[in-house]
Amino acid sequence: MPTIYIDGRPIEAESRQTVIEAALANGIEIPHFCWHPQLSIAGNCRICVVQVEGRSWVEIACNMPVTEGLHVLTDSDLVRSHRKAMLQLVTLNHPVDCGICDKAGECRLQDYHYAYNGAPSVSRDAKVTATKFHPLSERILLDNERCILCSRCVRFTHEVSKSHALGIVQRGDASLVRAAEDHALDRDPYSDNVIDICPVGALLSRDFLYRTRVWSLEPTPSVCPGCSRGCTVEIWHRKAEWKVHALDARHNARIERVTPLDNPAVNGPWICNKGRDLAKILERPRALTAMTRGSAVPLPDALADARMLIRSARRPVALVSSWGSNEELASFHEAFGGRVDAYVKTDHVPAAGEVLQDDLLLRADKNPNTTGALALFRALASAPDAFVGADLLLVWGEGFDLARAPAGARTIVVGSFEHAQNAKADVFIPVTVQTERGGHYTNFEGTVSAFAPCFEKPAGVVDAEDVFAMIAERATVPA
Ligand code: SF4
Ligand code: SF4
Ligand code: FES
Repeated sequence: MPTIYIDGRPIEAESRQTVIEAALANGIEIPHFCWHPQLSIAGNCRICVVQVEGRSWVEIACNMPVTEGLHVLTDSDLVRSHRKAMLQLVTLNHPVDCGICDKAGECRLQDYHYAYNGAPSVSRDAKVTATKFHPLSERILLDNERCILCSRCVRFTHEVSKSHALGIVQRGDASLVRAAEDHALDRDPYSDNVIDICPVGALLSRDFLYRTRVWSLEPTPSVCPGCSRGCTVEIWHRKAEWKVHALDARHNARIERVTPLDNPAVNGPWICNKGRDLAKILERPRALTAMTRGSAVPLPDALADARMLIRSARRPVALVSSWGSNEELASFHEAFGGRVDAYVKTDHVPAAGEVLQDDLLLRADKNPNTTGALALFRALASAPDAFVGADLLLVWGEGFDLARAPAGARTIVVGSFEHAQNAKADVFIPVTVQTERGGHYTNFEGTVSAFAPCFEKPAGVVDAEDVFAMIAERATVPA
């Protein structure tokens, strides 16, 4: 454990760390564009310069190994003047796009300009122009004028996703990031991570383009339910103080974007594109009305009917949801444990063309909590006699066609989304989705992750956890 001194402060560093790693791990900021903790060192942006005490030149901290007794200065006159010069160079041809740039508010170049430069450009020449809105892939646009050629995006596709989808062509101020001509970026299920790691607003999500300013949004920590990895994510939605009044009120309660929340135990700093597209899963048309045999009824009536059906059944069987939270599964177990034979079903199977599984994150099981459900109930797939003699079937969640219900059995469906078969059930009860409630999932490795609610529950919709308690008469039915 070498001891180094940063601005005179002793730091116990790890022997394989670089100065930038030791500094950041100890809360000392050293600006950086091209360096990223999960990528190889490129050393091309030169903004991370520090001065070793006693030397009359600066060196880059991202490629400087720690050595016992090393003394570095991060804020000497020499360092400040070099940083300022580098920012002058980087902004020489950078457009003044901040007013319309999606990265504004999260842009390192903007932040460092104010922190370490602040001066107008010294160039008298016209800026070099380049391609704006270059279609890099079906999901990503590239603004080459904003690109500072840090090569983070290129290294990501070579070192992390391994699609080798990006490269840099030409030399000097004609250099351009370009996609491989075989459209490998379209096939890279992790492509959108390059948008996050681009330190400027050069890489743009087509989906998020000009959708909103980032300071109008706030993140809620959550878990991606797209597969059994259960990546830790942040779901971004409009802040209460930026609520829109003149536009469609749905702007105030919708997912604006999803980004990874760095979790070394689960997903590190990455997620796949399916995780970015959670709105496509969680914002499908909702089932908002309780029904008995296809007719809308007040929720208490539907709960009373469900209770009566379970009470009078000779052999009630239930299929529990592999999208249920640990809390909901426990509530189900507590409510019906001794009374109902329950089996875990697969709510979602891989969609056509979806990557099944790989060595990075994606898992073949496209459900977030199969592990949590199997801790309490048997798998339906391993119970061939599950429906023998069943005269009542309770289906919680998706993925089961009621046409497969045992002949003559009455049915109760507990679900969140519009499905034709909701109206075919004897009783249908609408429940909340993940963004309207809190809870935990257990991923395929046994790691338990929490998700929090971002939006209000729709009127007439309750949590599945409460539904089970109410049907089992362990909780009061709302009036
Ligand atoms: S597009 Fe962004 S991440 Fe890629 S080289 Fe340019 S600045 Fe770096
Ligand atoms: S790897 Fe799985 S859990 Fe992670 S973001 Fe993708 S779909 Fe979601
Ligand atoms: S961060 Fe060190 S050279 Fe770019």
